[in-house]
Amino acid sequence: MDVEEARRRAREAQARYRRSPKGKETERRYQQSDKGRRAKARHENTPKRKDARARWNATAAGLANYSRYAHSEQGRMRDARNDANRKGQDHKVLLEQTRARLIQDPERGHAMGGVKKVALISDIQFPFEDPRALELALQYIEFYKPDGIILNGDIADCHDLSDYDRDPQDIGKTLLEVQKCRDLMKRLQHIPTKIWVGGNHEDRWRRVIWRESQRRAGLGEVLSVILSGFGLDPTDIDETFRRAFYIGEYGFKYWPYGHYIELADGNLIVTHGFMSRKHSGATARAHYERLGRCVIIGHCHRFGSYTTTKMGDIHGAWESGCLALLNPKWIQFPDWQHGLITIDVEGPTFHVNQIPILPGYVISVDGRKFN
Ligand SMILES: [Fe+2]
Ligand SMILES: [Fe+2]
Repeated sequence: MDVEEARRRAREAQARYRRSPKGKETERRYQQSDKGRRAKARHENTPKRKDARARWNATAAGLANYSRYAHSEQGRMRDARNDANRKGQDHKVLLEQTRARLIQDPERGHAMGGVKKVALISDIQFPFEDPRALELALQYIEFYKPDGIILNGDIADCHDLSDYDRDPQDIGKTLLEVQKCRDLMKRLQHIPTKIWVGGNHEDRWRRVIWRESQRRAGLGEVLSVILSGFGLDPTDIDETFRRAFYIGEYGFKYWPYGHYIELADGNLIVTHGFMSRKHSGATARAHYERLGRCVIIGHCHRFGSYTTTKMGDIHGAWESGCLALLNPKWIQFPDWQHGLITIDVEGPTFHVNQIPILPGYVISVDGRKFN
């Protein structure tokens, strides 16, 4: 018998006793006792107290007070308890989930709700993409039919804005990068929920604007005037990036580097990543340890994972590989792998599927081959 059933039976037994002659006699004696009379007087006063409370709640100060309480940890816990009672669920489970949501950073965290199948690709590094790996990933996504797509950073290399030494032949390709990003977004346009989270390469856009702003007359009167002429606030760097890459035109939402997406009620987060370790899985682990949340990252261009069990709860962190050329001219023998990730979400739970692109450009999933 569960707790709810036991409570229901106890309530019925009590009601039966009250209706019985013995119960009625007990009630009569209690009403006439001092204790009973005091209880009655208290009861009669209660509505007045309630009225006063209702009047206070209706005032601006009362509303503000209530709003503070409702948004506090205590208030949210109470909501969670009430929800749990209504649904007859285990308190602990719901409170744990609520706690996970409470540490969301409203500035940088963005919920991706209502999605059940999410595909994730990252580190394409246009114009240094590997066309075969990218095409294969896109074909697999078409087969998987996701209702959400996340482009998890370093989609555009922003090579012209790099501080590293560059081959002169690779300079002046910003417009090509924009065009390739547009082609990609167009291809993914049919997916209902679409998000692009910036990586450190997209962040070069911000860094250059900040740096240039410190030179001579700031960003340059002329550039400021041009941006204003296009209806842009020259200081709103993310919006200049969105507009330059036509992101809104394809129904994507763009969040800059350092922002993260929350899936499965905040129990899984997705962000580009800000550390890189030497071995496969080590970068995932470093991010898990820093963030304390299950997390998917790109950035290291590798394809590892890390799992740990904490008192029966399995936590994990995953690296999503890359879709860039594996032999760029500026690195010797990089330790990179091609791949993508799909995520099946069900309420607060999720399942991460790492899909490696095997040598010879093959994806093999459940006995089905793509190449
Ligand atoms: Fe990258
Ligand atoms: Fe990166």
